[in-house]
Amino acid sequence: MENQVLLEMKQISKTFPGVKALKNVHFKVHKGEVMAFMGENGAGKSTLIKIITGYYRRDPGEGQFLFDGKEVNPRNTDEAQKLGISTIFQELNLSPFLSVAENIYIGNTPKKHGMIDWDTMNQNAKKALLDLGVDIDVTAQLSQQSTAIQQMVSIARALARNTKLLIMDEATSSLDTGEVKVLFDVVKTLKSRGIATIFVTHKMDEIYQVCDSATIFKDGEYVDCLPLSQLPKLKLISLMIGRDASELVNKRKVYDPDKGKAEIICRVVGVQKANHRLNGINLEIHKGEVLGLSGLLGSGRTETAKVIFGDDVHYDGEVYMGQTAIRFKCPADAMKKGLAFCSEDRKAEGIFPYMSVQDNLTMTILSKISRFGILNKREQQKRTLEYIQKIAIKTPGPSTKIKDLSGGNQQKVILSRWLATHPDLIILDEPTRGIDVGAKGEIEDLIKQISDSGISVLYISSELDELVRECDRIVILHNGKNVGELRNEEISSDAIMGVIAHGRIDT
Ligand SMILES: Nc1ncnc2c1ncn2[C@@H]1O[C@H](COP(=O)(O)OP(=O)(O)OP(=O)(O)O)[C@@H](O)[C@H]1O
Ligand SMILES: [Mg+2]
Repeated sequence: MENQVLLEMKQISKTFPGVKALKNVHFKVHKGEVMAFMGENGAGKSTLIKIITGYYRRDPGEGQFLFDGKEVNPRNTDEAQKLGISTIFQELNLSPFLSVAENIYIGNTPKKHGMIDWDTMNQNAKKALLDLGVDIDVTAQLSQQSTAIQQMVSIARALARNTKLLIMDEATSSLDTGEVKVLFDVVKTLKSRGIATIFVTHKMDEIYQVCDSATIFKDGEYVDCLPLSQLPKLKLISLMIGRDASELVNKRKVYDPDKGKAEIICRVVGVQKANHRLNGINLEIHKGEVLGLSGLLGSGRTETAKVIFGDDVHYDGEVYMGQTAIRFKCPADAMKKGLAFCSEDRKAEGIFPYMSVQDNLTMTILSKISRFGILNKREQQKRTLEYIQKIAIKTPGPSTKIKDLSGGNQQKVILSRWLATHPDLIILDEPTRGIDVGAKGEIEDLIKQISDSGISVLYISSELDELVRECDRIVILHNGKNVGELRNEEISSDAIMGVIAHGRIDT
């Protein structure tokens, strides 16, 4: 079965105004094959996926799109769906105000006497989600569910259709390790049924857990396609970035023991919440230190960050800035005192899609670059160009709408927005989510640079190797309280995992 070609594309190009996103790319996927599309931010992965799924039309010309033995040309997602091509987009495309079950069967509802058969629909939805290891009330509104559950709902939706090819564009970006495992088990079951999967992620280790092969793209061009057995990580990353990646892969943190002795700029003492999401958090953040917060999804990392930043005011306990106990009324209050918070949910909280890169980037410093209420546009552009250059934001220019940047580059703009405020303490919640390896390296360098300049960083990440490379000290949370701490040379993935596992047994 694995030798039968399911999808073959030849000479596919796609041009957007000012950008040639795909240049004559080609690849083949076999039945039952799990293939990774790899490439840096902006390489063209999502664009290619949108062509496969009928969301975009490729440039007219000589290209060919063959699916299941026939030449096809899906003109929209419905047509692709009917062919057996289902996708989970990078940005979730669900209807938040419909029920979970409706989201799964939308456009495909079971009918009885011409009417929607609600009972069957709800039962089927319940079963479909149980198959994915999710046990929830399927009649509840989707918006009440966590991002992880919503992700599972969109997978269930794809599976509820006659799918031959499932495409997952960064579907794991907001799942925790347990949920990722459930998803990978599903992919393996599908594989045994001959269903192929195209899988996109920036989390390198996931590729090796689930994929058979990888097709690599760079700057809209096909680079290579290899079985993973012949593609060690170093080679894969080198192909993705187009140069030797040894330096990137072998980077080690150099610790400065003085950082742990520097003055304490922020202290969290016994913070708890009535809803028990936080049950006694204690932290001390020193000047110029990168303090990591680790723990599983729901352990209280983001909740802690929100308390510090004044984004959650309903808590007991104390937060000190320097020597002073402080209760911020709102984030703006915290910003005035030198705090910055780059949130994990850039879609809901961070990005204004139809505004330019420049407007998105400078919105935290408008008062600084205005005089008498009038914005100094030259200064605005200057500041934007500074960050475009500093952290290599890939954009045609400062006035490009941010929605037209690749996911990772959008994240860099948001990060720059906060750095531009020159904070004393910056909280970064999953700052490299959706960011490619090269850009991760650049962001890591940037974090080192800002912490060396005396800015403290509170760093939240579910990627352990990132925490290990970045942090001077790591506090591990479980069920809303501290369960352990590692510093300098003690820090390793195994050590963090050990504390997390121990925390689990204890509680
Ligand atoms: N609708 C659009 N209009 C203009 N340019 C676009 C549009 N969509 C994508 N692009 C551009 O096409 C290129 C490829 O983007 P694409 O989103 O396919 O990258 P990607 O490989 O999925 O990146 P990421 O890993 O960041 O998700 C980028 O330069 C991007 O800015
Ligand atoms: Mg993408």
